[in-house]
Amino acid sequence: MPETTRVCFVCLGNICRSPTAEAIMAHRLGFEDLGVHVEVESAGTGDWHVGHPPDERARDEAARRGVPMAGTARQFTADDFARFDIVLAMDTANREALRAIAPDPAAADKVHLLREFDPAANGELDVPDPYFGGSQGFTDVFDLVDRSITGLIAHIGSTQAGE
Ligand code: 4NP
Repeated sequence: MPETTRVCFVCLGNICRSPTAEAIMAHRLGFEDLGVHVEVESAGTGDWHVGHPPDERARDEAARRGVPMAGTARQFTADDFARFDIVLAMDTANREALRAIAPDPAAADKVHLLREFDPAANGELDVPDPYFGGSQGFTDVFDLVDRSITGLIAHIGSTQAGE
């Protein structure tokens, strides 16, 4: 039995992008026989929305796609690095904020951009922040994240197969 890979998705507020990623990944792990063993959480680099549910627009988009979304926002802390194998930042600002609080180089090396796994990224590696825009931004985020998670699952599968 392969080891479980522990994944944390991280954005700024933990109410739009990272809960979307967590919900999509958890949903797909739940109904597809992916042959991988994964635990998934999400967090934010900021603390403004700690204790809040996901943004209503993110929940509406997920509901439209048939993906259940729940959870309560929390802030990623330096101690969290020990709990995860891979920490996936939604944009480069999130990535730098995470690296800045990493307790050691091994922890910093766990941080990647989610869109490194997007097969159609074309060099654009940020998931754009939809918070100050309209509902189309949430639709776009869902599509980008969904596509990236396909690549991420393939990556985790190949890592576990190599164990
Ligand atoms: P998220 O979106 O990082 O995808 O959760 C945001 C949520 C809140 C804020 C910014 C981005 N904010 O400025 O409060």
